[in-house]
Amino acid sequence: MSRPLPISAYYHQQTKYDPETIAQRGKQLDWSQQPSAFKAYKIGTSYDLKPYLELDKNEPDWEALSYMLLLSYGLTAKIPIMGGKYMYLRSAPSAGGLYPAEIYLISRGTKLLPAGLYHYQPQTHNLLRFWDDHCWSDLQDACFRHPALEKTQIALVTTAIFYRSVWRYEDRAYRRIFLDTGHLLGNINLAGAMQGFRPHLIGGFGDRLMNELLYLDGEEEAVTSVIALSPDPRSSSKGQTTLPSPVDMEYPEITEGNLLPTLHRASEIIAKASVPPRQPNVLEDKYNFPFCTKIALTSESAEDRYESRIDWGEDLEELEETMLKRRSTRNYTGEDLTLNELQQLLNFTYHPENYIEQGLTSDPDYFDLSLIETFVAVSGVEGLDSGCYYYAPKAQELRQVRFKNFREELHYLCLGQNLGRDAGALIFHTADLKQAVARYGDRAYRYLHLDAGNLGQRLNLAAIQLGLGVSGIAGFFDDQVNEVLGIPDDEAVLYITTLGIPKPE
Ligand SMILES: Cc1cc2nc3c(=O)[nH]c(=O)nc-3n(C[C@H](O)[C@H](O)[C@H](O)COP(=O)(O)O)c2cc1C
Repeated sequence: MSRPLPISAYYHQQTKYDPETIAQRGKQLDWSQQPSAFKAYKIGTSYDLKPYLELDKNEPDWEALSYMLLLSYGLTAKIPIMGGKYMYLRSAPSAGGLYPAEIYLISRGTKLLPAGLYHYQPQTHNLLRFWDDHCWSDLQDACFRHPALEKTQIALVTTAIFYRSVWRYEDRAYRRIFLDTGHLLGNINLAGAMQGFRPHLIGGFGDRLMNELLYLDGEEEAVTSVIALSPDPRSSSKGQTTLPSPVDMEYPEITEGNLLPTLHRASEIIAKASVPPRQPNVLEDKYNFPFCTKIALTSESAEDRYESRIDWGEDLEELEETMLKRRSTRNYTGEDLTLNELQQLLNFTYHPENYIEQGLTSDPDYFDLSLIETFVAVSGVEGLDSGCYYYAPKAQELRQVRFKNFREELHYLCLGQNLGRDAGALIFHTADLKQAVARYGDRAYRYLHLDAGNLGQRLNLAAIQLGLGVSGIAGFFDDQVNEVLGIPDDEAVLYITTLGIPKPE
């Protein structure tokens, strides 16, 4: 891309990892200075959600809320670290375990939750009501009267405390913060459906109004998404999940360390602008290479099609177990995945319509999946030649881009991480930034990373259910990934999910 670039494209360009400059980026981290991953409030009314995790309580409404928050972002592991301290891991993964996201709840006033503002505190699994006033109408104003808020009583709000992630990843943290939050939204979509809610994602809100509503300054901490929780799990997608921001081409010289706040500010929405209505989440097959080898991942036979679905057990019990036990794999053996496993992973991620009978939503919300493409680097999948493929989600087939065993190159491209080399398959989510910015202004950058993280979470959960290993990777040599794997240059790589056979610890 040539200058002048929209600020989001400029940010992307400037935060690329490059073999020539990566050494200058590595800074010594003082782990004693790592920011706390927990936000505290001094005053408020505390609602303990722990008792409702016990089955004999018989308080279904509390139980639903308690489980939804636990499955989405609750603490699920405690690991001893130096100095007799512990590190707490959560149901959603987070780059570097830094957990920049926070969850708030806004109640219109229900039997359970008096009107007001609540903060979810994972360390104690509590909701803390820190503000008692009625603010639903302000929420509706801040979300430009979004239809999903009309009949609902409860909304969740995710925010980012930027410094938690900036501390380690500097300007590039913005990408990881939105990928992390996307994983969290993936959990909220699934946990919501399991607990009798229909989460409606709202990405187009007035940033200043939303921040003010939660008493946030918008610099240290800012709102990243709003989720209306409809009490009808079968209700369909409502209204636009996205609104555009302006495109900023007029920014002055930006010094290092200021790229992140500048992009965040530039992608704020001040007034509602309309976007052309689009069909929600319609999958398109963007690439079809002439004479390329195609591998069908679907079948004429109903029995085979059934085989490629993931079974989440009676009443989705196994999905709940999976969400609680999910961990990022630290090492793979290098052994092969089966083709059927790859089929199941992609089936659950891209074809929610196959999971209605199991009790999940057929059309969970995303921001705009039509902007996201998927490439698969295969190093070890039985019955598949090694190489890079485009995954055509509608046709459900893999289309050859380049044939070669890329293990060593993948090791290098993933900044020398063994996960890249030893995985059986790596999923690359990409987007054409120019096209995305043309549709949503600089705010597209947020939507793309949120959606890539959301898809990544479905891959994570599917992998764990199949007994496979999985880990996200957000640090890679951007341009070289396209070059080596043959991914078209217009496709900016957003995120990598590695999949393989886990090595026992
Ligand atoms: C956006 C994102 C990027 C990540 N990048 C890497 C990575 O480059 N290398 C790695 O080993 N793990 C990576 N992870 C995994 C995290 O390190 C892991 O989620 C965190 O340590 C918490 O552990 P858990 O996932 O087991 O709960 C990433 C996770 C996310 C969500």
